[in-house]
Amino acid sequence: MPAASALFEPYTLRSVTVPNRVWMAPMCQYSAEVFGPNAGVAHDWHFAHYAARAAGGTGLILVEATAVSPEGRISPADLGIWNDTQVEALRRITTFLEGQGTVPGIQIAHAGRKASTDRPWLGGAPLAPDSEEGWQPVGPSAVAWDERHTVPTELTIDHIREIVGQFADAARRALDAGFKVVEIHGAHGYLIGQFLSPHSNKRTDEYGGSFENRTRFALEVTDAVRAVWPEELPLFFRISATDWLEEGGWSADETVRLAALLKEHGVDLLDVSTGGNASGVRIPTGPGYQVPFAERVHNESPLAVAAVGLITEPAQAEKILANGEADAILLGRELLRNPSWARQAARELGGDVHVPDQYHRSV
Ligand SMILES: Cc1cc2nc3c(=O)[nH]c(=O)nc-3n(C[C@H](O)[C@H](O)[C@H](O)COP(=O)(O)O)c2cc1C
Repeated sequence: MPAASALFEPYTLRSVTVPNRVWMAPMCQYSAEVFGPNAGVAHDWHFAHYAARAAGGTGLILVEATAVSPEGRISPADLGIWNDTQVEALRRITTFLEGQGTVPGIQIAHAGRKASTDRPWLGGAPLAPDSEEGWQPVGPSAVAWDERHTVPTELTIDHIREIVGQFADAARRALDAGFKVVEIHGAHGYLIGQFLSPHSNKRTDEYGGSFENRTRFALEVTDAVRAVWPEELPLFFRISATDWLEEGGWSADETVRLAALLKEHGVDLLDVSTGGNASGVRIPTGPGYQVPFAERVHNESPLAVAAVGLITEPAQAEKILANGEADAILLGRELLRNPSWARQAARELGGDVHVPDQYHRSV
């Protein structure tokens, strides 16, 4: 019998069945230690943060952008996945999530030219390469994000290959840590997005210029990750479907074109966000403002799709799924406000959701 609510219908990708379509979007906590043996290591804050959303009935949790190398961190306090201490700490989280029936996923990332910035609540200013916590960022081209940011060092071909390898190592470690989903961070103007967009990619070699060249790095990373990520486990890719530039930026048409290629290269689901690669651009935000991009990819490409961005109400989320605009809903800030959003939505819409035994008297 079909579930009463589309939001609470299970969803299967490869061998993984997610119990519902209420998923947590990756959200950096900028809270790891910066120096010493615990640099980039998840601790009590991260555990409590993810554990609460799992106990709240969230079907799948994407752990925040986790850097594949120290130079790939956004802030010095980002989580990392370049060593075994980091893996051990993440395993504690995946074990708890699985115990609650939540599918554990992780976003692996390299910040490129947007690396070396302070925590947002301290202003998010760029940290100078010679400051105590800062470092020299890299990018496809020596073009800074804005006038305040350090001009990145243009990546050599050897360095590009090294980073592709770091993504593969990160995926291998993610598997070791117990994750069932890996998401490659290709969005928000971080390194992969910087290569995709002609706004940030001014290269004249095989990584710049044509669509084929600008997408080369994204597809090489995808291939390297897919080669080590088990066949039976799903691979996600997050994209910014548009730079929101009139011209000279990455476009929704190119997103649809890339989606078909990503499918051929072993990606299962596109997580459709927008923006973040061009400073000073006005984004017309509002409830569900990115859903039309998800819907387009859903209609015009073979990939499964998750919608994200100002989706806050159960009825709103339900309608997106019922209209066939996306296969799953990713919630960001609303899950920060309410860790038990899934449970509340199930009550409102009528649907089965995990409730921990300890909370049974609250049903
Ligand atoms: C505190 C915070 C941290 C974020 N960190 C990440 C991140 O690590 N990776 C990412 O792709 N998006 C990140 N985002 C964007 C969210 O995943 C999401 O796409 C965005 O907040 C829009 O969804 P919402 O309106 O439901 O919050 C972050 C957003 C917030 C509020």
